[in-house]
Amino acid sequence: MSLLRESSQGVWGSRWTFVAATAGAAVGMGNLWKFSALAGANGGAAFVVVYLFFMVLVSLPVLIAEVVIGSRGRANPITASQNLAREAAVSSWWQLMGWLGCLAGLCILSYYSVMAGLGIAHIDSIFTGQFKGLTAAKVGEAFNQLLADPWQLALWHSIFLALVVLVVSTGVERGMARMARIILPVFVLLLVIVVLYSNRMGDMAAAQQFLFSFQWQAITPEIVLAALGQAFFTLSIGLGAMMAFGAYMPDGRSVAGLLSAVVLIDTAVALLAGLAIFPLVFSLNIAPSTGPGLMFVALPYAFGHIEHGELFGGAFFTVVALVGLSSGVALMEPAVAWLVERCKFKRLFAALTVGLLAWGLGIVALLSLNEWSDVRWLDRSIFNWLDYISANILLPLGGLLIAIFVGWRMRLEVVRDEFYKHSGVVFVLWYWLLRYIAAPAVLLILLLPLYRWLVATA
Ligand code: TRP
Repeated sequence: MSLLRESSQGVWGSRWTFVAATAGAAVGMGNLWKFSALAGANGGAAFVVVYLFFMVLVSLPVLIAEVVIGSRGRANPITASQNLAREAAVSSWWQLMGWLGCLAGLCILSYYSVMAGLGIAHIDSIFTGQFKGLTAAKVGEAFNQLLADPWQLALWHSIFLALVVLVVSTGVERGMARMARIILPVFVLLLVIVVLYSNRMGDMAAAQQFLFSFQWQAITPEIVLAALGQAFFTLSIGLGAMMAFGAYMPDGRSVAGLLSAVVLIDTAVALLAGLAIFPLVFSLNIAPSTGPGLMFVALPYAFGHIEHGELFGGAFFTVVALVGLSSGVALMEPAVAWLVERCKFKRLFAALTVGLLAWGLGIVALLSLNEWSDVRWLDRSIFNWLDYISANILLPLGGLLIAIFVGWRMRLEVVRDEFYKHSGVVFVLWYWLLRYIAAPAVLLILLLPLYRWLVATA
């Protein structure tokens, strides 16, 4: 009896650690800032429903495939894809999967750091009570002033990246991952409290109507592409970051089950964030299409009006920064691991190299929010192009390669081998989804803009 209890507790411990670590890399600024901005700009429910659909049918199968590559390849994404291509006796071109991933990671890290930096900036301003009793208009003004000041943005962006470099270079990521066991529940708890507040003070009915009342006609190709991009972005898949987690997979447990829990947690956080932000957006008459401002106006406003809001809000943004940090670390890791394993860089030097590149690109991104806001192409700023290209093109492309590779190229016995703990049904269902739903869907959606462009220019 006592033996049984001991072993089941041990397993439970490593199981939850695995889920928390993976969820820690997935949950981040994307769930707050990006989800609310995209849902707001793309008509709410039309976006949310398509997004949920993709999460289950495309992202979850690809997430499992990515972890399978990791647990089989046991190296950085580039080396892992080289090794597995050799093992499967297919073209060495498949290593493109790894290269694309490192590139996407770098691009995302650059502007992600700017947004996460804004999160850090709010720890200070909320703790010191700067939003106390302010009207929504005043909070909005303060946010616009922050966006207009490249020096401020650069300062917070640099601080965030320095923290990422610090964690990655000292190699304490596994410690960070373990910390996610504490941070995530606290984050969810604080978020639930904000939702309750929003329910009382904001217009919850309007928010629910906006987020969930769905009409087929509202779906457009842009919304479909944006939803697919976000379904990849929010789970941190498509660039090889999740491959690292394959190596830590707890024994004797089903990957599919554990990763489904990750998807559930990530989705719950995004929806809770929506239910925290949108009731205030509607009661305060903020346009849903405002963009990043949604989160950075609604939440500081809320904390300015809740009793003990400084403490509570300061704690909230501290947790946000930590969750963002664990995502930033996962974004940097693939490229750093490659530099260390392949080019024999010292870890510190590798982290500094990648950090410096991301820093420079991030400076360009943040300048496009103010000094260079006129530099636009097809109505998108440099910041938005970086985001569009990495989230809506590079990640789906990476995901497509992963799905085709695992679904169609790796030998069935090898893939089956990684799934030995599963019942046959789960394996067949996943394999089928990966081959016949995920891969073709991503391919079609990626071709959509190309098709429209051809039609437009013909
Ligand atoms: N999923 C993260 C978030 O929602 C952002 C992200 C996108 C990411 N791609 C990633 C994090 C790859 C780590 C690795 O905030």
